[in-house]
Amino acid sequence: MATAFPAERTVILTGAASPRGIGRATAYHLAELGWNIGIIDIDGDAAARTAQEVAEQFGVRGLGVGADTSDREQAVAAVDTLEQGLPQIVALVNFAGVSSPVPYLEVTPEEWHRVLSINLDGVHWVTQRVVASLVESGVGRIVGISSVSAQRGGGTFSKTPYSASKAGVIGLMRSIAREVGPLGITANVISPGPIDTDIMGGTLTEERKQAMAADGVLPRIGTPRDIAAAVAYLISEDAGFVTGQTLNVDGGLYMH
Ligand SMILES: NC(=O)c1ccc[n+]([C@@H]2O[C@H](COP(=O)([O-])OP(=O)(O)OC[C@H]3O[C@@H](n4cnc5c(N)ncnc54)[C@H](O)[C@@H]3O)[C@@H](O)[C@H]2O)c1
Repeated sequence: MATAFPAERTVILTGAASPRGIGRATAYHLAELGWNIGIIDIDGDAAARTAQEVAEQFGVRGLGVGADTSDREQAVAAVDTLEQGLPQIVALVNFAGVSSPVPYLEVTPEEWHRVLSINLDGVHWVTQRVVASLVESGVGRIVGISSVSAQRGGGTFSKTPYSASKAGVIGLMRSIAREVGPLGITANVISPGPIDTDIMGGTLTEERKQAMAADGVLPRIGTPRDIAAAVAYLISEDAGFVTGQTLNVDGGLYMH
């Protein structure tokens, strides 16, 4: 029998501070659904501000802390702080990430390390710390954020280190799903197609959006809300029989 969700539950979101980002939109959506919100972002002020805003707007509790999630000590300390200040952690969504538009032969060791350490190591540091708490309560939901770039071999703004890191997120979540499933925890991935945020080198022009949309089946690119809605499902109590999956929210860009 699956353990029921506690009435008061917290979701931790990494990378949920940038003004037009997917994580921030998700914080708003989940707070509206009654989740208490913990935010970890390299921009600590914006993390605190966003958490406070959603708390005031939706009457939940919110706490935001600054940390570079690629640094294990900072990642662990941030989760410690959120755990002490908020109700029981039930879910984690790993949004923190960076793009990398560098052509392969120009990828320096520094660029490779920067992208892998934020997009993959950081996911591991935060997830490992959160899973340690979830196994104590016997209930939990983990979500990793990959990218269609991992599944299709780039073809997007970001190139090789990004694709490799995002493919790594899929392998990591599947493997975590297998190990912690018997302990009441699910782990899944959302793989977005192009979403209208500033991560692809700044705010997208209408022309660029149309060109990206032309590649898929649906006549538009995605919105942060499209991803927020998918997250809300995967971390819900009702999604307790879904684990090890990759949910493509990409307008039909990648079918398999
Ligand atoms: N926008 C897209 O088209 C798209 C497509 C596929 C996947 N994604 C993924 O979705 C996630 C969110 O992207 P977004 O479009 O909202 O971008 P964004 O740049 O708006 O958000 C990224 C967030 O991560 C934070 N961050 C960056 N480095 C960090 C670090 N070392 N430690 C802690 N926080 C850090 C940033 O401050 C920011 O708040 C990313 O993982 C991205 O790769 C985005």
